[in-house]
Amino acid sequence: MNAPEKIAVGSDHAAVEAKDRVIKRLRELGREARDFTVLTGGKADYPVAGRRVALAVAGGEFQRGVLLCGTGLGMSFAANRIRGIRAALCLNSEFAVLSREHNDANILIMPGRATIYEPWEKILETWLATPFSGDERHVRRNRMLDAPETE
Ligand code: RB5
Repeated sequence: MNAPEKIAVGSDHAAVEAKDRVIKRLRELGREARDFTVLTGGKADYPVAGRRVALAVAGGEFQRGVLLCGTGLGMSFAANRIRGIRAALCLNSEFAVLSREHNDANILIMPGRATIYEPWEKILETWLATPFSGDERHVRRNRMLDAPETE
């Protein structure tokens, strides 16, 4: 039997309830989910969990990650600063599919407060289930992200 996929999860204070629902759903889907959120006095600055989750994924301890903040934008900025991370803010399942097939996104970001155009469960499940296409052009572009100076 394969070991369950390990997913690192985190949020700021604007998305704690959404993050708890995501963790519950990931566990129902057979994933091992760990919460990297650090709440201090009811607040959690998005750069903290964003960086912790991104480092856990970039370091290989976790296969993929899910991050949430109010808009998803702060988490995008935080996670994508870490080399090797391709974190995708997905507002619908089309973004979820393309972020996996083309970008091989290793972190899914969703907003806790902003408009989302489909149920978050559909976005999450689509993202988890969609494989990277492996097409040469996408592999090449992903490599360019980590080595822009060579292009
Ligand atoms: C926190 O209020 C809010 O700024 C944050 O959740 C997020 O939307 C930032 O990008």
